[in-house]
Amino acid sequence: MEFSHHFLLLLLFTILLPILAIFLLRHRIWCNCHICTAYQTSSWASDFPNLSDWYTHLLRTSPTQTIHIHIIGNTVTANPAVVEHILRARFDNYPKGKKFSRILGDLLGMGIFNVDGPAWDFQRKHASMELGSVSIRTFAFETVKGEIEQRLLPLLSSFAGKVGPESEALLDLQEVFQRFSFDNVCNFSFGFDPGCLDLSLPISPFADSFDLASKLSAERALVVSPIVWKIKRLLNVGSERRLRDAVAVVKALAMDVIEHKRKLGFSEHGDLLSRFMGCVSDEVYLRDIVMSFVLAGRDTMASAMTAFFWLIRARLDIVSRIRKEADNIIRNRNGQAFPSFDQLKEMHYLQATVYESLRLYPPVQFDSKFASEDDELPDGTFVSRGTRVMYHPYAMGRMEKIWGPDCMEFRPERWLDENGKFVHQNPYKYPVFQAGVRVCLGKEMAIVEMKMVALSVLWEFDVVVIAPISELRFEPGLTAFVRGGLKVLIKKRDTAPNNKNI
Ligand code: HEM
Repeated sequence: MEFSHHFLLLLLFTILLPILAIFLLRHRIWCNCHICTAYQTSSWASDFPNLSDWYTHLLRTSPTQTIHIHIIGNTVTANPAVVEHILRARFDNYPKGKKFSRILGDLLGMGIFNVDGPAWDFQRKHASMELGSVSIRTFAFETVKGEIEQRLLPLLSSFAGKVGPESEALLDLQEVFQRFSFDNVCNFSFGFDPGCLDLSLPISPFADSFDLASKLSAERALVVSPIVWKIKRLLNVGSERRLRDAVAVVKALAMDVIEHKRKLGFSEHGDLLSRFMGCVSDEVYLRDIVMSFVLAGRDTMASAMTAFFWLIRARLDIVSRIRKEADNIIRNRNGQAFPSFDQLKEMHYLQATVYESLRLYPPVQFDSKFASEDDELPDGTFVSRGTRVMYHPYAMGRMEKIWGPDCMEFRPERWLDENGKFVHQNPYKYPVFQAGVRVCLGKEMAIVEMKMVALSVLWEFDVVVIAPISELRFEPGLTAFVRGGLKVLIKKRDTAPNNKNI
């Protein structure tokens, strides 16, 4: 006892205090401007439901659409010219940086999502080549189709028209989508099916540990200083201990899948891991590569679909137009229920609805880079070396300067030309999937998946949102996650061919 006390004191004086002193000297923690004061005291929370709404307000009122929060050394922008500058023109000066990769490092290792430089370049080139192939698109399409037909729709059917105590009839659609996207992304990345969306909604150790590991990693970014989690990690206590345990479970399971594949052969398989196994022999590196895809594609998809169903909750006009478009494209062709890949591409209105929902509720509400060298942004803002520069898709979707006076309205038509054809917008004013050199690798897949889910659910069911009703409040984290989930009632529709009530 005596000994451990002395040891802790020694540790405090020799390691922790000097680190703390360096931190205090390097950071400006005494700023009392009104923004920094509101940030420190969280007084913004009395006027805004989410931190992102407060940032939106600050960015809207800034003449350059860029602000600087001194106390945390962050430059935040909603200016498309600045976004293009950091994501394309001066990409070399704005890597993700070591501060970011340390946060996710234990979980993601050297995976594409977490690295810069040659390791990123290699994975990016290889993954882009694979993701561009028709065979992987077909594989992804068939995977999602199977998950919808065999799991999602049966689960919703089992809740349709449920009566009884309210809590039994209510379904948390956000949780359903998390399970759905985890099954999909694991199948796609590993060729491994965790079966999270089976009717019994089973507990999956892989999904639970992955959940916990990504949540605890993201929480590292929320503490005032990284020193806090670094010390806990060093001492292996509290949340850092739980993180270490969760990461160990995830990594062991991933390694099992890799070893299993090596034994049984992988060349015939369509998943990403099998494709990388042909050119990477290091198993730890392989594990890291696929883990990044699981992280990148899981919560983002669930978040996107949750917001979509929340946004259309009171828009029968939009739901009806989606159904009519599908009816014209699918039924009049060859009578099958599920659209083909090509038919889905023809659904311009559905695509516009998906893009519009992502504009207002981007799953990644903000994203950061770190300046390698001093720089001047196109709006005149000076950025010193080491500054965290953040672009803010959530705020950008709410800027009159970008989307006009009706920016807060959910209006899919803004994405259609006069012939009803979908038109892409400048990616730097809509960096929902990031943009430029490091644009999301799963973008096309994500849009197709969202269209498939939206259509198949709306075709079979009416989704009645019970809560939340008036606004979405998000949990703090890397991906937007609705606090309390999305509670809905499911009602079966009459989809008989003579039903005119589409
Ligand atoms: C609506 C769904 C999605 C959204 C909004 C989204 C958004 C993003 C964003 C903002 C980034 C940049 C993150 C950063 O660099 O800090 C990104 C990167 C990435 N995304 Fe997505 N994503 C989605 C779905 C997916 C899916 C389904 C996959 C694949 C299974 C995927 C794979 C990736 C990968 C691998 C990267 C890293 C690319 C790189 O660093 O070069 N994403 N995504």
